[in-house]
Amino acid sequence: MNDGGTPEGTGAAPGAASRRPLIAGNWKMNAGGQDACPLAAAVAKATRELTRAEVVVAPPFTAIAAVAHELAEAKSEVGIAAQNMSAELSGAFTGEISSGMLKDAGATWVILGHSERRQLFAETDESVARKVASAVAAELRPIVCVGETLEEREAGDTLAVVERQVRAFLDELAKQPGFGVIAYEPVWAIGTGKVARAEDAQEVHAFIRGLLAKASEDLASVTRILYGGSVKADNAEALLAQDDIDGALVGGASLDAAGFAKIVDAAHRLAERAEQG
Ligand code: PGA
Repeated sequence: MNDGGTPEGTGAAPGAASRRPLIAGNWKMNAGGQDACPLAAAVAKATRELTRAEVVVAPPFTAIAAVAHELAEAKSEVGIAAQNMSAELSGAFTGEISSGMLKDAGATWVILGHSERRQLFAETDESVARKVASAVAAELRPIVCVGETLEEREAGDTLAVVERQVRAFLDELAKQPGFGVIAYEPVWAIGTGKVARAEDAQEVHAFIRGLLAKASEDLASVTRILYGGSVKADNAEALLAQDDIDGALVGGASLDAAGFAKIVDAAHRLAERAEQG
């Protein structure tokens, strides 16, 4: 094996072990104001030793600066994501927030194309792709969400839907392999308590990696693909153990620092085991 974990001479892509797991907590429209800093501090404390996993929290916009200050004071490695962003840089866009503003506030990541944005705020593949392009140009790391609705799954359209969504922003991620992250979040599993079976999630993740490979092998091997949708402490390990699941985007369970840390712990332990071969 060489340093990158690629079997010498085979030309095969490095596997899951070469991708550091990422656990991101999407707080949604919760834990703003007074609750944000204590929650961020508790996450930082509970995950401090779990260094084999990368940890990100996504507070509401108004709490980003305070959380950034809190985490800096604690000398924490926990990263900060925004939950959305404008594709525009500045100007007459009432109510919008630009990449520059997010960076000034202390975010280094941004969640884009979340299904709640697509379903409730009319975001489209095209508008999501514009945001991804804008984020990459601004050096803000995108976590781009894709996933099918229950109707689409029942119609047998899961892979076609995911392919359409991924193709829309693939070229933008290919500009800087490894900089962006994809989150596969079946819409029917978000906030419902219905988690996808690990093997079913793995099938979609492997399919997404195959799409990335069409752009480049490098992009496929370094891009982390997170699973999201009712991830909790008690189901995280089975999901994270799958070859093509490189982490989790956690909604509800990220509002409890101890429960969230258990998910990070599962990722940390699996990575440790993989390292030991
Ligand atoms: P959930 O949300 O974990 O509450 O299902 C996940 C998400 O929306 O990112």
